[in-house]
Amino acid sequence: MTSTPAELPESVVLAEGEGGLPVVRVATAVATGEVYLHGAHVTAWTPAGSDPVIWMSGESRFTPGEAIRGGIPICFPWFGAGREPGLAPPPHGFARLAGWRLLGAEERDGEVTVTLRLTDADTAGVKAAAAWPHPFTATYAVTFGRELTVALTVENTGDAEISFEEALHTYLAVADVRTTAVQGLDGATYLDKAPGAGPDHVTQEGDVTFTEETDRVYASSGTVVVVDGGSGRRIGIAKEGSANTVVWNPWVDKAAAMPDFGDDEWPAMVCVETANALDDAVVLAAGQRHTMTARYTVTR
Ligand code: BG6
Repeated sequence: MTSTPAELPESVVLAEGEGGLPVVRVATAVATGEVYLHGAHVTAWTPAGSDPVIWMSGESRFTPGEAIRGGIPICFPWFGAGREPGLAPPPHGFARLAGWRLLGAEERDGEVTVTLRLTDADTAGVKAAAAWPHPFTATYAVTFGRELTVALTVENTGDAEISFEEALHTYLAVADVRTTAVQGLDGATYLDKAPGAGPDHVTQEGDVTFTEETDRVYASSGTVVVVDGGSGRRIGIAKEGSANTVVWNPWVDKAAAMPDFGDDEWPAMVCVETANALDDAVVLAAGQRHTMTARYTVTR
């Protein structure tokens, strides 16, 4: 069922966004938010009385075939370069480069859930989709309210086993990453992907703090809290169906090397990603489905 704009609740509008791309905008008494059909990409969520929680780059492209920079990119069906040769480029899979279908939007108790879908049949012509030629249905439910909940369900619609990686690659707005800490990963092991880091798994001691480029894939299925020392805000991220938490900030050199990321923007963001990657890739037998959920809560 595809909703026409006429069937959407009054709090939801399907509009033309940046670059002429279709965007679903939500405005209720408790929150505003938006999600582009391109990549099913959430680009905003602001609970009433709060500053924007989701960070967007001022240099982002809004172009078919290119990823939006900031927001919540969906990485699927591979993460980074992928686990097999021949998947990337592009990194992080093709889901963030594809146009998703709007299935509908529903308002309940002041919260609005927008549902989008991508299937293998929708990926003809999408960069690198042919590198992962498996039947699937991906359904993404985004609930904008006092909390933000994003749930990605992937179903294996073929008759052979599939395996995939996935990440909800959320860019969170912070006053300054240098005075930000991520709590909840103490004792977790991580793979360090930053330049110069060794291949071994390392154990986190205490909070994660930021003094250089940080790019880590943690083995962790627990809740984390981003403590923003500059503003006093705390962003909680609770999750289900996810074995990994990725923490990323590009710092000076990588920011400068990315054409769609401002050279001076890196202090204002941190990515805390809800993921199943590398050895924790999801394996689905024919007909099976898997849901990965992340729920964001803001407190001061
Ligand atoms: C992170 C990766 O998840 O995403 C980093 O761990 C990567 O290595 C970052 O640089 C951004 O990726 P991209 O493809 O959006 O530039």
